[in-house]
Amino acid sequence: MATKTKKARAVAQSSTVPKGELGTRTLAMPGDTNPNGDIFGGWVLSQMDIAGGIISKKLAGTKTVTVAVDAMTFYLPVLVGDVLGCYVDVVRVGRTSITVKVEAWADREFSSNRVKVTEGLFTYVAIDATRRPIQILAES
Ligand SMILES: CC(C)(COP(=O)(O)OP(=O)(O)OC[C@H]1O[C@@H](n2cnc3c(N)ncnc32)[C@H](O)[C@@H]1OP(=O)(O)O)[C@@H](O)C(=O)NCCC(=O)NCCS
Repeated sequence: MATKTKKARAVAQSSTVPKGELGTRTLAMPGDTNPNGDIFGGWVLSQMDIAGGIISKKLAGTKTVTVAVDAMTFYLPVLVGDVLGCYVDVVRVGRTSITVKVEAWADREFSSNRVKVTEGLFTYVAIDATRRPIQILAES
């Protein structure tokens, strides 16, 4: 029986077009690797968090902080030389929080092959100068 990850990977590989707008685009460098020689998952996650953070801050019109990262599965490795694109799609604007679906796609080096490597739901909270949640006034 296929695992949840295998099923999710099959679904991910069937999609060929990123959903959302391009938030960040970064080259995966040798210094970003794990002991296996592939790109460290924490680096990928941080790129996604940055992409979601940029759009949440723009929408909120104030500082935001990450409060939660949900439903994240790594489907495929990111390799040195890949260009990682993080695509953002705002799925919910609450009173003080914004949830962004972030998809990470790797453009493989010297190839026209683009693959979805992971995706997740990132939630940000708008904060004031004292770091307390504040209401989001901006329209989505
Ligand atoms: C983010 C923070 C300011 C929220 O403070 P809080 O007192 O817990 O806030 P609240 O309980 O009032 O929740 C605020 C909003 O976050 C949402 N929220 C809280 N926990 C959540 C979670 N686990 N998942 C999704 N949303 C969550 C709430 O639903 C609420 O949204 P809404 O106003 O749109 O309905 C506080 O938890 C914090 O400072 N956390 C650390 C943030 C940080 O340092 N991030 C970087 C991590 S390295």
